[in-house]
Amino acid sequence: MIEHFDQHIGVSFPHRFEKSYIQSEIRPDDTIIDLGCGIGQTTLEFAEHLTAGGSILGIDLSKNRIKEANILLKKSVFKDRAKFRIGDIESLDLGDASASLIISQGVLLHVVDKQSAVDEMYRILLPGGRAIVSLAALVDGNPLGWETDSTGVPIEWLPIYRYEEMFTEAGFKSDYILILRLR
Ligand SMILES: C[S@@+](CC[C@H](N)C(=O)[O-])C[C@H]1O[C@@H](n2cnc3c(N)ncnc32)[C@H](O)[C@@H]1O
Repeated sequence: MIEHFDQHIGVSFPHRFEKSYIQSEIRPDDTIIDLGCGIGQTTLEFAEHLTAGGSILGIDLSKNRIKEANILLKKSVFKDRAKFRIGDIESLDLGDASASLIISQGVLLHVVDKQSAVDEMYRILLPGGRAIVSLAALVDGNPLGWETDSTGVPIEWLPIYRYEEMFTEAGFKSDYILILRLR
């Protein structure tokens, strides 16, 4: 799976965070972690709304994507508040309560052990923090399993209630937002 992300850089998808939404949710001094940041465009869009007191860290399993993200970062005026590093969101090398805001756009549907990834989100989130996660899901019904999308990326199709169960199981209550593209 990750070989695909190493080779196909810059694939777009239709459940992107709206810019106005980013602005309304972010606090200037947030400590943000972007899980599955890809080449970092969204990470840098969030960085734009931080002051010097805030920071954002983008993490992705694909070394090629992190390499591209660091190239973008070098050209960015926000390099004082953003960083990128390679990592697996199923098992993060970050301390407990290290983020006030977690973002993850279009990632969870590709992750093999989703419950571990959601558990890790909860573990690294400060009490009172928020997680904003976008994904494509089925409105209802039974899980459809893994499919390959038009760009060749494996996606697991699960109904919304399965994601809600995972977030509840991890410990989340009303402190998370799912932005969904439904099928
Ligand atoms: C569709 S892209 C989304 C990229 C980015 N969030 C954005 O909004 O542009 C999915 C990303 O998830 C990453 N990914 C998939 N599984 C991962 C995992 N277990 N840990 C970290 N990153 C992962 C892929 O390498 C890829 O960059």
